[in-house]
Amino acid sequence: MVWLASVEVSRDSSQPLTSQIQTAVKREITEGVLRPGTRLPSSRALADDLSVSRSVVVEAYGQLIAEGYLEAVQGSGTRVAGHLAPAARVPTLLDEGRVPAVRWDLRTGGAVPAHFPHREWVGAYQRALRNVGRAELDYPPLSGARPLCEELARYLGRVRGVRTAPERIMVVQGFAHGLALLCSALPRLGIGTVAVEDPGLVRQHRFVQEAGLSTVPVPVDAEGVDVAALARSGVRAVLVTPFHQFPTGVTLSARRRAELVDWARGTDGYVIEDDYDGDFWLERRPHPLALQRMAPDRVVYAGTTSKALAPALRLGWLAAPPTVLAALEQVRGERDLGSEALTQLAFAELLRGGALDRHLRRLRARYRGRREALTLAVHRHLPGTVVAGAAAGLHAYLRLPPHTDEALLVAGALRHSVLVRGGSEFGTLARRPDPALVVGYAGLPTTALLDAVRELGRVWARLPRGERGVARSA
Ligand SMILES: Cc1ncc(COP(=O)(O)O)c(C=O)c1O
Repeated sequence: MVWLASVEVSRDSSQPLTSQIQTAVKREITEGVLRPGTRLPSSRALADDLSVSRSVVVEAYGQLIAEGYLEAVQGSGTRVAGHLAPAARVPTLLDEGRVPAVRWDLRTGGAVPAHFPHREWVGAYQRALRNVGRAELDYPPLSGARPLCEELARYLGRVRGVRTAPERIMVVQGFAHGLALLCSALPRLGIGTVAVEDPGLVRQHRFVQEAGLSTVPVPVDAEGVDVAALARSGVRAVLVTPFHQFPTGVTLSARRRAELVDWARGTDGYVIEDDYDGDFWLERRPHPLALQRMAPDRVVYAGTTSKALAPALRLGWLAAPPTVLAALEQVRGERDLGSEALTQLAFAELLRGGALDRHLRRLRARYRGRREALTLAVHRHLPGTVVAGAAAGLHAYLRLPPHTDEALLVAGALRHSVLVRGGSEFGTLARRPDPALVVGYAGLPTTALLDAVRELGRVWARLPRGERGVARSA
């Protein structure tokens, strides 16, 4: 084996051997080939490789250390110095920019890392590895490992009322990946525009646009997406969050569900149901079932492990009508060879043994307590603010008193170490959305949540009178 493949010396060169080594190492560091922290071969090993005397390498290393390119680490040899690292970061569609360090982070996102069920996951992964068959180590089916598709079909039917079968499911790498695949599949069905909820997850809308499709915003009201406005838009596909609209928290009403299904049938269109937090119904009344069950031929149901387990798993699923599934499989056949199978098999184990059910039951109890504490604190410290929408998921939508200066409140909160998003971050229409805060409550213990809302209340109370809004009459 060659220890340092990119460094060579030539005895025909007029440049001394030591200096040739220095030049080559500097070049590789500067160009980012030799990364900070890379361990270099010992002087003896490199001297052997290059057929030079050891003292030549010792001298070259010494000079590079003196110039700060390398560092000698006691007990672990010579390494490329850390501080020369150019921080190469590829921007992504999910970028949030720089996040300030704060005492209370009320942003909503994926599952809370501290709540990840390590023991159960290790057990499931071990069982999956122990039982893996030879065939399962080959390329997996494009739609996903069969044991997982079977478990998912059972699970989704049981807990979300989804009408599907293992052969109607496609395992994907999170909803983002499922959406990207759909953006390639829909044009094959003659669809080039997707209607999106407004307010909604703007970065998802951008994602659709980056994939080459157009988006049309459709307003959301107290019953959910406005289907009459959707019908007027003339599109044939819509992306919705019927269980717990993001961010307003509204559950799509029975009337709107029926209208949406009629719309899809009447336009030969499709509904993409993003059931991103469908595992977290925190109310005491019955859990709304998936919209998909009303029209499995028209609705693509999408689920993810990002809220229930961890976004890092990049694991999600689509339950799709046969027409859409065929287009999705074509896309995957052209673009990738399916998702990594061992994680799928481990997740199938978690479903099979009931460990996911038990984990979610524990989380729901914990989050219900946090949401109730948040609601009480809002009533006490933010008078006139309403905790809107259903008690579900990992976030609450706080409607501030009308005319509150949301931007001033968000900026003031940050100065007091409370990081919270304003509702306007999720608006896409030209009209200004009503002032609101989108508060993630899963990640903070109850006492910290109470402190954060008390601090928010203080900031709100100190806003100039005209910027504090007006109390609602009802
Ligand atoms: C509205 C919405 N949809 C979907 C997701 C999940 O996306 P993914 O499965 O790609 O992590 C999220 C993120 O948590 C979300 O907020």
